[in-house]
Amino acid sequence: MACLSSSQLQKFREDGFLVLEGFLSAEECVAMQQRIGKIVAEMDVPPHCRTEFSTHEEEQLRAQGSTDYFLSSGDKIRFFFEKGVFDEKGLERGPQSWRGDMEISWSLQRNPSTKLAMALARSLGLQMPVVVQSMYIFKQPHIGGEVFPHQDASFLYTEPLGRVLGMWIALEDATLENGCLWFIPGSHTSGVSRRMVRAPAGSAPGTSFLGSEPAWDNSLFVPTPVRRGALVLIHGEVVHKSKQNLSDRSRQVYTFHLMEASGTTWSPENWLQPTAELPFPPLYT
Ligand code: FE2
Repeated sequence: MACLSSSQLQKFREDGFLVLEGFLSAEECVAMQQRIGKIVAEMDVPPHCRTEFSTHEEEQLRAQGSTDYFLSSGDKIRFFFEKGVFDEKGLERGPQSWRGDMEISWSLQRNPSTKLAMALARSLGLQMPVVVQSMYIFKQPHIGGEVFPHQDASFLYTEPLGRVLGMWIALEDATLENGCLWFIPGSHTSGVSRRMVRAPAGSAPGTSFLGSEPAWDNSLFVPTPVRRGALVLIHGEVVHKSKQNLSDRSRQVYTFHLMEASGTTWSPENWLQPTAELPFPPLYT
């Protein structure tokens, strides 16, 4: 399942995204969910680090009270919470919300998708792919937030463009009801509309935006429901979004971003920076 046919490659180049059903088995999905359950059970997030995650510009900037927690998450497991999980004192609101949606950086080397991802990257012709980030997204029932239209390269900027690729693995069915992905097919060919850049060290807020996201025509978005175990390839510049999860089912996903490191400059202005202790790890081992 990890090798692409020429028609699949062509479809990805045309649309900027591609669905590969059956990338992981149901058992592999369950194993990843169990592992993340253990990590969550043991998590310890100090109150001043309880950051709500948002892709909305104003909310992103407001959320920078714990800037260091966010900006230093490149080589650590960090937890980010769904909007509305905390009350005004910064405490969790009771048993309904302690589950609060979180995104968790997680070492790629420790999950079953790695070998398949390597084969897939080779199939895409990547020479030196490195893993720039990974996340576990819960999209919890009733509170899983809307992800506003965006291009991943706005946050993961490279020169030249076209070197960032998302691999998004559904660990549960992603449906119209629980917040599947929506794409504008073919929107990956016109560069990026805005960029999130780091402010000089010690400034607040820690990031700002150059440019702005256009008011995308909602009718251009195509819903992409997938079954548990499916992988969705996401070009770094394709415009995508997901709606709020108002259903009573979560939409758990493991996702990571690769950069073709050969001949590519990772912007030193990106919020996410590799560290001396942990440079972006190569996918091929
Ligand atoms: Fe995205």
